[in-house]
Amino acid sequence: MAALRYLVPALAVAGRAAAQCSAAATTTLQSAADASALSSCSTFSGSIAIATGTTDAIALDGITRITGSLVADNVTQITQLSGDSLAIIDDSFTLNSLTILSTLSFPRLESVATIDWTALPALQGLSFTTGVQTAGSVSIINTQLATLDGIDLTTVDSMTISNNDYLDDINMQIGNISTSLIIEANGRNVSASFPNLEWAYNITLRNVTAVSMPSLASLNGSMGFYANFFTSVAAPNLTTVGGSLSFVSNEDMTNITFPELKTVSGGLQVANNTAIKSISFPALETVGGALDFNGNFTSVTLPDLEDVKGAFNLQSSGDIDTACSHFEPLSGSNNVIKGTYTCAGGESTVGGTGTLTPGTNSGGSSTSSSATSSSAANAVLFSGATGLMGVVAAIFGML
Ligand SMILES: *[C@@H]1O[C@H](CO)[C@@H](O)[C@H](O)[C@H]1NC(C)=O
Ligand SMILES: *[C@@H]1O[C@H](CO)[C@@H](O)[C@H](O)[C@H]1NC(C)=O
Ligand SMILES: *[C@@H]1O[C@H](CO)[C@@H](O)[C@H](O)[C@H]1NC(C)=O
Ligand SMILES: *[C@@H]1O[C@H](CO)[C@@H](O)[C@H](O)[C@H]1NC(C)=O
Ligand SMILES: *[C@@H]1O[C@H](CO)[C@@H](O)[C@H](O)[C@H]1NC(C)=O
Ligand SMILES: *[C@@H]1O[C@H](CO)[C@@H](O)[C@H](O)[C@H]1NC(C)=O
Ligand SMILES: *[C@@H]1O[C@H](CO)[C@@H](O)[C@H](O)[C@H]1NC(C)=O
Ligand SMILES: *[C@@H]1O[C@H](CO)[C@@H](O)[C@H](O)[C@H]1NC(C)=O
Ligand SMILES: *[C@@H]1O[C@H](CO)[C@@H](O)[C@H](O)[C@H]1NC(C)=O
Ligand SMILES: *[C@@H]1O[C@H](CO)[C@@H](O)[C@H](O)[C@H]1NC(C)=O
Repeated sequence: MAALRYLVPALAVAGRAAAQCSAAATTTLQSAADASALSSCSTFSGSIAIATGTTDAIALDGITRITGSLVADNVTQITQLSGDSLAIIDDSFTLNSLTILSTLSFPRLESVATIDWTALPALQGLSFTTGVQTAGSVSIINTQLATLDGIDLTTVDSMTISNNDYLDDINMQIGNISTSLIIEANGRNVSASFPNLEWAYNITLRNVTAVSMPSLASLNGSMGFYANFFTSVAAPNLTTVGGSLSFVSNEDMTNITFPELKTVSGGLQVANNTAIKSISFPALETVGGALDFNGNFTSVTLPDLEDVKGAFNLQSSGDIDTACSHFEPLSGSNNVIKGTYTCAGGESTVGGTGTLTPGTNSGGSSTSSSATSSSAANAVLFSGATGLMGVVAAIFGML
C-alpha cells in the first residue's frame, strides 16, 4: 500500500509530460485544441466530457477506445462532435441538451455499453458507417432523427425510443431483448420492424403505425399495445407470454392475429379498441390472470380455452349473446373459468373487470330475452342504415 501511494503521483506527472491519455476520473475538453491534444492516444483510459461552454467543433480523431464514458451535457453551443477512429466506448455515450448539435460522426463506432441521448433537437442523422452492433442499453429521446441507420444491434438489454417526432422507421436485426423495449410518441407514420426478434423480456408499443415481429416466439414478462394507429397486429409465431398481454385504445385496429398463442401467465386485456368487431385467439389454452375484453365487438372466439385462473369479463356495446351463451357454462370453481364470471352486451358504457355484478350474463341487452336483446343491439348498431324508426322500435322492444 505504501509503495502504491508514491507511485500514483509519479505516473500522473509522467502522463502530463506526454499526451494525457488517461484520467483518474474525467478529462474535460473546452476547445478543438483540447481534443486534438488527445489524438496520439489510441486508448484513452478514463472518461471524456465536453465543457458546457464549448463552442468549437470537437473532433476526437485518433482515439480508438475510451475505457470510460463520453459525455456532453448541456453544451448548448456545440454543432459538431466526431471521432474518426473511435470504435469502442466501454461505458456510456451520453448526449443531453445539445440544442444545435447537427453533426454526430463516428464512422467506426461499433460497441458502446450505454447510449443515452436526450434532447438533441437539431440532430437529423447519424454518420456511423460501421454501425453500432453491441450496446447494453439504448435510450434515444427527443431528437430529430428520421432513421436510426447507424445503430443496428444484434442483442440489447433495454431500449427506449421515444418522442422522436421525425422518426418513421425503426428496423433492427435484434435477436433478443433481455430487459425491455419501449417505443412511443415517435413520427406519426412510424413502423417498428424486428424481423429476427425471437424473445424479449418486456415490450411496450405506443403510437406506432405498423409493427412486424414475425419471429417473436415468447415473452418472459409482458407485452402491451397502446394507442397505436395500425389496423392489424400480428404475432404469427408467439406461443407464450410470461406476464400480461394488453391491447388498449388502438382505435383503428380491426384485426388481432396471434394464431399460435397458447399461454398468457398474467392477464389478457383487449380494451377500448373502438373498431374491432371480432376477437379470436384460436390456440389460447391458459390465462393465469384475468381475461378482460371490453369494447364494441360482436364476436369472441376462444375454441381451445382450458383454464382461466382469474376473472372473466366480456363487455360490449354490441350483441355478444352467442359468446355469453358459450362461455357461461364454462364458469365455476372446478370449471374452465375459475374466477368471477361477467358477460354483458348491448351496453351503453362498457367497463373492465369488477364493474358488473358477479355472474352477470346478458349478451344482447340487460333484459333476459335473448331474441329481443339481439334485435335491439342490431338496431342500435345499424341505426345509421335503418334510421331513427329502427332505434325507436328497438327501445320499445326493450321496454
Ligand atoms: C446549462 O448551461 C448554462 C450555461 O451554459 C447554465 O446557465 C444552465 O444552468 C445549464 N443548465 C443545466 C440544466 O445544467
Ligand atoms: C440472442 O440473440 C443473439 C443474436 O441473434 C444470439 O446470438 C443469441 O444466441 C441469443 N441469445 C439467446 C439466449 O437467445
Ligand atoms: C407511411 O409509411 C409507409 C411505409 O412504411 C409509406 O408507404 C406511406 O406512404 C407513409 N404514409 C405517409 C402519410 O407518410
Ligand atoms: C416460427 O417458429 C418455427 C418453429 O418454432 C420456426 O421454425 C420458424 O422459423 C419461425 N418463423 C419465423 C419467421 O421466425
Ligand atoms: C427469457 O426467455 C428466453 C427465451 O425463452 C430465455 O432464454 C431466457 O433465459 C429468459 N430470461 C429470463 C430472465 O427468464
Ligand atoms: C412491461 O410491459 C408492460 C406492457 O406493455 C408495461 O405495462 C410495463 O410498464 C412494462 N414494464 C417495463 C419495466 O418496461
Ligand atoms: C400515444 O400514446 C399515449 C399513451 O398510450 C396516448 O396517451 C397518446 O394520446 C398517444 N398519442 C397520440 C398522438 O396518439
Ligand atoms: C388479419 O391479418 C392477417 C395477417 O396479419 C391476415 O392474414 C388476415 O387476412 C386479416 N384478416 C382480416 C379479416 O382482414
Ligand atoms: C377506456 O375508456 C374509458 C373511457 O374513456 C376509460 O374510463 C377507461 O379507463 C379506459 N380503459 C382502459 C383500460 O384504458
Ligand atoms: C364504441 O364505438 C363508439 C362509436 O364508434 C365509440 O364512441 C366508443 O368509444 C366505442 N366504445 C369502445 C369501448 O370502444
